[in-house]
Amino acid sequence: MSDRLPGFRDFYPEPLPANEPWSCDLRQHIFGRWRETARRYGFREYDGPPLEPLELYTNKSGAEIVAQLFNFADKGDRAVSMRPEMTPTVARMVATAERAYKKPIKWFSLPQLFRYEKQQKGRLREHFQLNCDIFGESDAGADAEIVALLIDVLRALGLTHEDFVIRLSSRQAWQRFFAARGGDPARAYEFYQVVDKLERERPEVSAEKLAPLGVKLEEVQAFITASIPEPELQTVIDNLSARGLGGFVKVDYGVIRGLAYYTGIVFEAFDRKGEFRAIAGGGRYDQLVKQVSEGKADLPALGFGMGDVVLAELLKVRKLVPSFTGTVDAVVLIEDETLRAASLGVVQQLREAGRAADYSLTPAKGDKQFKRALELGATRTVRLERGADGTVVAKIKDLKTREEKWVAPGEVATAIAG
Ligand code: HAM
Repeated sequence: MSDRLPGFRDFYPEPLPANEPWSCDLRQHIFGRWRETARRYGFREYDGPPLEPLELYTNKSGAEIVAQLFNFADKGDRAVSMRPEMTPTVARMVATAERAYKKPIKWFSLPQLFRYEKQQKGRLREHFQLNCDIFGESDAGADAEIVALLIDVLRALGLTHEDFVIRLSSRQAWQRFFAARGGDPARAYEFYQVVDKLERERPEVSAEKLAPLGVKLEEVQAFITASIPEPELQTVIDNLSARGLGGFVKVDYGVIRGLAYYTGIVFEAFDRKGEFRAIAGGGRYDQLVKQVSEGKADLPALGFGMGDVVLAELLKVRKLVPSFTGTVDAVVLIEDETLRAASLGVVQQLREAGRAADYSLTPAKGDKQFKRALELGATRTVRLERGADGTVVAKIKDLKTREEKWVAPGEVATAIAG
């Protein structure tokens, strides 16, 4: 038997088999909260292709992602790549069709993404992301709206301000810092990448990389320690405070983001205890639509991506994963095979009424069928019985209250509804 590829997951329904941590029920729970919160903020859902032309990423996403691409030549000899992120795709979609939509465009998506990374805690070779982006609004009110949405998505999953914090920063602040020290604008991204890796790199290595850029490590560290909010960040904080969400954010110039296309405010969501990698990250990228469309469209843009891997790990540790049982409304027990045809009629009746109904596909002992009903977490059982006079009645048994009632077979769905 061939094994699963490293860094890829099987999602099993619960209860989970031994050593299989990924639950399809938990995934659906997360997706449900993601969709529901995006809807409350007036975002519409979109999707794009999981396979894209390689060039969509090679000059737009930045060195780190490009080194992690799952790319290959397809049978038509096209250079293609599995999508490592959604932002270039949505930028292309918006550039193509923006005239059909009123601004600002507020869209979300739940793509599965692929990055050839070293498998480690919080990092796999495929993951799902909630992406929420706004196009066509340059006002800082949009930045505050996107951060508020990020906060509310995490709150919708049961996390509180004791669990997570949004570290808020600004590429412009760093750009001004770099310019003030005579930095070459063409090398700004190189500088940002050193800042991005600061927390993971040894100080000597960072200092060595900063020297040719004309910057001292101590100055960078002092700037981060002070983290004095620039006016553009203060506006966002004031806006969030007006909603009662100010306590969820803190200015932290230690965040700068690795991706190349960010141009303004950037942010990352972390667990407060600092046990996990980033839960989400995003920011403003006002030039990407123009770049992707080679100047045909030009819209300011901003958004975030939240991965399911770190999020699921955090929810488990904080005991915020609900128990997933009881999805079957009724199990129809067929103990008398002469009543199988009539029982199938009841099963169909329940399903057409929108109920989840199950039954034994082949003849089986009554106690086995009942045990199976319990395993399925059924709310009730239904059993057709033939009376002494030959009339058939349905016995509905509530498995929680043990209450029983008898109705005509054609009335089962209605009796359950009442
Ligand atoms: P990103 O920071 O590369 O941003 O990814 C966002 C989140 O996805 C991360 O914080 C992390 O939770 C999760 N993630 C990333 N890579 C992996 C992985 N290999 N395994 C598990 N989880 C992972 C972006 O992708 C941007 N495109 C987000 C964005 C949208 N910016 C603006 N709009």
